[in-house]
Amino acid sequence: MLVCICNGISDRDIDEALSNGANNISDLRNSLGLGNCCGQCASFAKDMIGDRQAQPAKSSAFNLAYEAK
Ligand code: FES
Repeated sequence: MLVCICNGISDRDIDEALSNGANNISDLRNSLGLGNCCGQCASFAKDMIGDRQAQPAKSSAFNLAYEAK
């Protein structure tokens, strides 16, 4: 799905940037150019960041399960 129409940035692009260490809108702006035109995409991108931060890291859950054995 296209999130930033001005710059052709998809939800997959944002998800990849978040996986690569982006933590906030400024990081996405710097790495992808998201929100640097009309800014209409910023609220959706913020929701994606919030959803990502609310999820437990898969690797941490795996490590806890592994250490419990
Ligand atoms: S839709 Fe992202 S800057 Fe316009």
